Amino acid sequence: MTPSDTDYARAIELLRAGELVAIPTETVYGLGADAANPAAVAKIFAAKGRPADHPLIVHLAGHDAVDHWAEQVPAVAWELMETFWPGPLTLILKKQAWVPDAVTGGQDTVGLRVPGHPVALELLRRFAAVAGEHAGIAAPSANRFGRISPTTAAHVQEELGDQVPLILDGGACKVGIESTIVDCSRGQPVVLRPGHIAPTHLEAVLGLVPLIETATGAPRVSGSLEAHYAPQTPMRLVGSERLLDFLNAQRHKGGRCGVICHSQPPQAGFPHCWRMLPADPVGYAHELYAALREMDHAGVDLIAVEALPTEQVWAAVADRLRRAAAGAGQG
Ligand code: TXA
Ligand code: MG
Repeated sequence: MTPSDTDYARAIELLRAGELVAIPTETVYGLGADAANPAAVAKIFAAKGRPADHPLIVHLAGHDAVDHWAEQVPAVAWELMETFWPGPLTLILKKQAWVPDAVTGGQDTVGLRVPGHPVALELLRRFAAVAGEHAGIAAPSANRFGRISPTTAAHVQEELGDQVPLILDGGACKVGIESTIVDCSRGQPVVLRPGHIAPTHLEAVLGLVPLIETATGAPRVSGSLEAHYAPQTPMRLVGSERLLDFLNAQRHKGGRCGVICHSQPPQAGFPHCWRMLPADPVGYAHELYAALREMDHAGVDLIAVEALPTEQVWAAVADRLRRAAAGAGQG
């Protein structure tokens, strides 16, 4: 799973030439381009079919590059970087004037992250060595717009294989859902997208409970669109206690149902296929997107997902499931 020197060299060559490279991160795979090259960044939008006003995250090799991209970086943002970078946290900061509109969607802020995956970090370091010490790689998740984020190189191949000249294989992503996004550009930090780094973790650093922006559907954060991260097969969230009745009703209608559960395997109701995910949020997040993809390939008419516990620790995966259900079945 470790790319060779030749793979890295080819990746750098492509990035320098304004081409795309798919890269593993600890959250999900990203579709990367030289963040300082607007023509290269435009290729990301074309490949994904993503609206041009959706800003991208710039990935950096380390904290030292932050001031090159952002200005007026508040003390709390530095504290968050110290604690959580490299890692699954994206900070929204006031951008430097030179940062291309192609990256920021024309906004006055920029999203920055130092990823915690050794392959991503190695690539970023090698890129900075040749493109300038502050060089960054702009990368959204390497899926077609609105679809399930890829957590393996094979998923990227399946989503965008014909559009990406190189996919660096770094194995299965450890976290499995996208980074937590915290906006530090407007005074008190606001969580724009929940993730592996939870409000309680942030609170321990900030000394106060961060505000959480509830989804508005505004394109400022594409992950905040109601329908997102979605499989092609229709999908329903079904409470544990209703699952058996639900499966029986589907069977009665002649529908082939796939089940994603976490408390116990479906012991009756005759699902066409089922997948049991770990009953803890970290394990669940790690496997969720692969499970949704597997269901999409299983030839079922409907995916029934056992509804998650309502506790705060499940918030990030519950958020992804809710959006997946909202966008499912449109492909
Ligand atoms: O874990 C991740 O964050 C992955 C990996 C590849 O790093 N990337 C990812 O990118 O999920 P993407 O583009 O699928 O989602 C990034 C989110 C989007 O919802 C985007 O709108 C938001 O970050 N974002 C980026 N810059 C922003 C800004 N200046 N203001 C508000 N939101 C921003
Ligand atoms: Mg995405």
